[in-house]
Amino acid sequence: MTVPVLTIDGPSGAGKGTVSRAVARRLDWHYLDSGSIYRALALAVLQEGVALDDVASICRIGGVMKLEFECGEELTVMLDGRDVSRQLTTEITGNAASIIAAYPEVRQVLLKKQKAFQQLPGLVADGRDMGSVVFPDARFKVYLTAGSAERALRRYKQLIEKGNDANLIQITREIEERDLRDSRRAVAPLTIPQDALYIDSSDLDIEQVIARVMNLVC
Ligand code: DC
Repeated sequence: MTVPVLTIDGPSGAGKGTVSRAVARRLDWHYLDSGSIYRALALAVLQEGVALDDVASICRIGGVMKLEFECGEELTVMLDGRDVSRQLTTEITGNAASIIAAYPEVRQVLLKKQKAFQQLPGLVADGRDMGSVVFPDARFKVYLTAGSAERALRRYKQLIEKGNDANLIQITREIEERDLRDSRRAVAPLTIPQDALYIDSSDLDIEQVIARVMNLVC
């Protein structure tokens, strides 16, 4: 029996995480936050003092790092036995993740880890290339986006709520830079899968977005 997959792709800060977790909970499906896998590797690389262009070392670290996920209201991520959930949300980690994600060798190392999440009764997979590369045969595909100013504001509020420092102008600039890097890279760039439901959440609240996604699946 094929395990059903719902992919939710889109740029940073579009609300994919919140929507994907809520939908996974309602369907009682597994949840893959692929961004957190890239972020965890970036964090491990930064902590080991490895340069962000040392692809061989990054791949080595990616091959041996041990990740565990616990999906409650928020996602808890354990890297080599330590809870790194908070460190993963910082802009430094996010930017480093976007840089290392551009290397095809790195993407290849992380591909298997992501595919392993496809387990019964189903999977909600959130990322950039879930519907195009990792799960091209997914039964349901969504592309979720919002304007960059709106996404920057949401990220800013999220960081402040979690007690991190944040600067809105800097976040807006970083989000725009990251969008460019994620959509211009040669391998698995951020694209809208042809068969995806396109949702612009700029003027929608989270419940409206969740309802549209649930409509697609149920
Ligand atoms: O979704 P996020 O902001 O947590 O992702 C962090 C970075 O990881 C993002 O800038 C690009 C990369 N990424 C990716 O290349 N492919 C994915 N499927 C998910 C994230």
